[in-house]
Amino acid sequence: MEEKYFLKNKDNPESKNIDFYVKNGGYKAWESVLEGKSPDEVIGEVKKSGLRGRGGAGFPAGMKWSFVPKDSDRPKYLICNADESEPGTFKDRYIIEREPHMMLEGIAIASFAINCHQAYIYIRGEFVYGAKVLDEAIAEAEARGCLGKNIMGTGYDLDIAVHRGAGAYICGEETGQIESLEGKRGWPRLKPPFPAVVGVFNSPTVVNNVETLANLPLIFNRGADYFAGIGPNAKNTGPKLYCVSGHVKRPGLYEFPLGKNLNELIYEDCGGIRDGHELKAVIPGGSSVPVLRPEEIDVSMDYDSLAAIGSMLGSAGAIVMDDTTCLVDSLLNLEQFYAHESCGQCTPCREGTMWMVKILSRIEKGQGRMEDMDLLDDVAKNINFRTICPLGDAAAMPAMSFIDKFRDEFEEHIKQGGCPIQKDKSIKVPNADA
Ligand SMILES: Cc1cc2nc3c(=O)[nH]c(=O)nc-3n(C[C@H](O)[C@H](O)[C@H](O)COP(=O)(O)O)c2cc1C
Repeated sequence: MEEKYFLKNKDNPESKNIDFYVKNGGYKAWESVLEGKSPDEVIGEVKKSGLRGRGGAGFPAGMKWSFVPKDSDRPKYLICNADESEPGTFKDRYIIEREPHMMLEGIAIASFAINCHQAYIYIRGEFVYGAKVLDEAIAEAEARGCLGKNIMGTGYDLDIAVHRGAGAYICGEETGQIESLEGKRGWPRLKPPFPAVVGVFNSPTVVNNVETLANLPLIFNRGADYFAGIGPNAKNTGPKLYCVSGHVKRPGLYEFPLGKNLNELIYEDCGGIRDGHELKAVIPGGSSVPVLRPEEIDVSMDYDSLAAIGSMLGSAGAIVMDDTTCLVDSLLNLEQFYAHESCGQCTPCREGTMWMVKILSRIEKGQGRMEDMDLLDDVAKNINFRTICPLGDAAAMPAMSFIDKFRDEFEEHIKQGGCPIQKDKSIKVPNADA
C-alpha cells in the first residue's frame, strides 16, 4: 500500500478542520454505519478486517467489543486511550493534533458497535494543545450533526467528553485509566472481571487506543477485505504508524503497512545511523519491550514476527542506539522512569524497580560487583508476571534482555570500575550504594 492513510495530509495544516475532513470524504463511514448496519454487523466487519489493538498488546478489536454483554441493562462506555506515555512513542499525538475527526469518527463507529452513548477520550495532561484541538473538533462535529443528539436524524445519541489526566504513565494502563476517570488514584484493578464486563462506573467498558479507533473509517469506507489485504498476513493487517527516535539521520513518524522491515526502516527511510557511527541496539516497540541486537533487525515489524524473536511490536516506537550509547546508563535511565511511575500497589514492582535502579547506578558509577549481574537478573525475573498490571513486566523485560544480550558491556563496567564509554558521567541517585 503506497497510499498513506494517517499521514496523507501531513503537509496540510487544514487537516484538523471539519470542512477539510468532510470535503475529503470524512464522516461518510459513520453515516454508512448509522444508516445501514446493525451493531453485530459492525463487529463482524471489524473482526473480518483483522484489526488488532495499536496500544501495545495487539488484542483483536472486534473480539474485544464482542465481550460486552448485550443483556446487561447498565450503560456501556467507550474510552479512547490517548494517554500515550510510553517512552519513544509519538504516533497518537499526530492523530490527535492533525486528524482529530478521523479519531472521532472511529470513536463513533466503535460506540455504535457496543451500544454506547457516552464515550470518553482520556488524554494525558501534557497534551494541552491536543486537548484543545479535540474539544474544538467535538464542537465542530456536534454543530454538523455528526455527534450529539439524534445524529444524522437516526435517533442515535453520542456524547464524547475529553478527560485530561495529570501525567501518570500508569493511567495509560486500561484499568488504572478507568480508576482515574472515576476520580480515584490510578491504581490498576485485578482482572477478571475484564473492563468489557465491569469497567468504568461498574459498567461494561471498551478501552481502545487512538490509532486503533482511527483505523475504523478506513475499514468502513474501503471494506474489511481491503483492510485485511494490507500487511503481511491475515493476523497482521492494516496501515501502521512507526515512531523512530535516537541515532538515525532522519528520526520521525513514518507510515507503512503493518510488517515494515525494521532494517529497511532504519537504513532506507531514516537514512541510517549518523555518520561515523555504527548501530549498537534497537528497542523496537517503545521502551517496555525486549531490546534487539543489530543482527536481529532484519525482521518484519508486526505482532507475530517480533514475538517470534522474543520481542514485541508494542507501540511501534523504535528507539535506535549507536555505539556512543552506554547501555548501562540507558537501562538505568529506563528503570528510573519505571521506578518513578510504579503506582506502588504491588511489592515486586514498587520495591523491585527501585532496587534495579540502585544496582544499575552502582554499576554505572564503577562500584558494581560481579554478583550484581545475577542479582539484577533475579530481581527482574521476580517482578515479571508477578504484578497486577503489566507495568512490572514493562520494567523487567528491558532489564532481562539488556543483561542477556549485552552482558559483556555490564561486566566491562564492573571490571574497569566505571563506564568505559562515557567518562564524564555523574549520576545522582539517592542511596545508590544501599
Ligand atoms: C503501564 C502501561 C501503560 C500503558 N499506556 C498506554 C497508553 O498510553 N496508550 C494506550 O493506548 N495503551 C496503553 N497501555 C495499554 C492499555 O492497557 C490497553 O491495552 C490499550 O489501551 C487497549 O487498546 P487497544 O486494544 O486498542 O490496543 C498501557 C499499558 C500499560 C501496562
